[in-house]
Amino acid sequence: MTEELTPPNIPVEFRPRHIALVMDGNGRWAEQRGLKRTEGHKRGEAVLLDMVAACQALDIPYLSAYAFSTENWRRSADEVRFLMGFNRDVLTRQKMWLHERGVKVRWVGRRPRLWRSVLRELESAEELTKNNTSMTLFMCVNYGGRAEIIDGVREIVRKAQRGEIRPDDITEKNFHTFLDEPTMPDVDLFLRPSGEKRTSNFLLWQSAYAEMVYQNKLFPDYTPQDLFDAVEEYAKRDRRFGGTK
Ligand code: FPP
Repeated sequence: MTEELTPPNIPVEFRPRHIALVMDGNGRWAEQRGLKRTEGHKRGEAVLLDMVAACQALDIPYLSAYAFSTENWRRSADEVRFLMGFNRDVLTRQKMWLHERGVKVRWVGRRPRLWRSVLRELESAEELTKNNTSMTLFMCVNYGGRAEIIDGVREIVRKAQRGEIRPDDITEKNFHTFLDEPTMPDVDLFLRPSGEKRTSNFLLWQSAYAEMVYQNKLFPDYTPQDLFDAVEEYAKRDRRFGGTK
């Protein structure tokens, strides 16, 4: 784990407030070395902690980590079983480290299918860290952007059927209150290492105006310096949100 970090000197208004991180490339990293894919995931654990530390070094208050998608159930039964257990064990092992650093952990995702033991660990980490204020780590487990939007729409329809809401009450400003984590701010910087250039269904609603930075490094090799480089790249971007300067 990286202890001494020297973040770039970027004025606060040019730093992202919310980074979405796709922890991608673990399987490929392992395969390139003739190892089991699970060995790559194991390497990812320390890298995730490094990313939390890197965000703290830059005073970035929100980090969302894509740890298991609603589509990842399509992987082999063995890998799915490993990933469920791994997500649970990472939390068991690291929740105290996160707590000691003042990190608030929040789970974002869908309940059905998620292993009960994983849910229990997520809830335990949430409870332990609920009063922390240094930064928020959204652990996205059994998360899918489309699933989240559909679940929100279903909730709205149920409310409408009960006569509690009218169609015109729903706006772009308040729709987020029907999403998995209503307190989550929009994503500023969407980071995907591994060379792939796609969102893979991560934080679709929240990333409408995110700056995308794709880096050519597999997640187990990803370092705080790579995150700093991405933030420097972000700082140079001209964010117009559809308007002009
Ligand atoms: C999306 O790509 C990537 C993810 C959902 C990340 C999965 C991450 C892990 C399994 C590792 C978790 C690590 C820790 C430390 C908890 P995809 O491969 O699902 O999508 P694609 O098929 O479009 O590339």
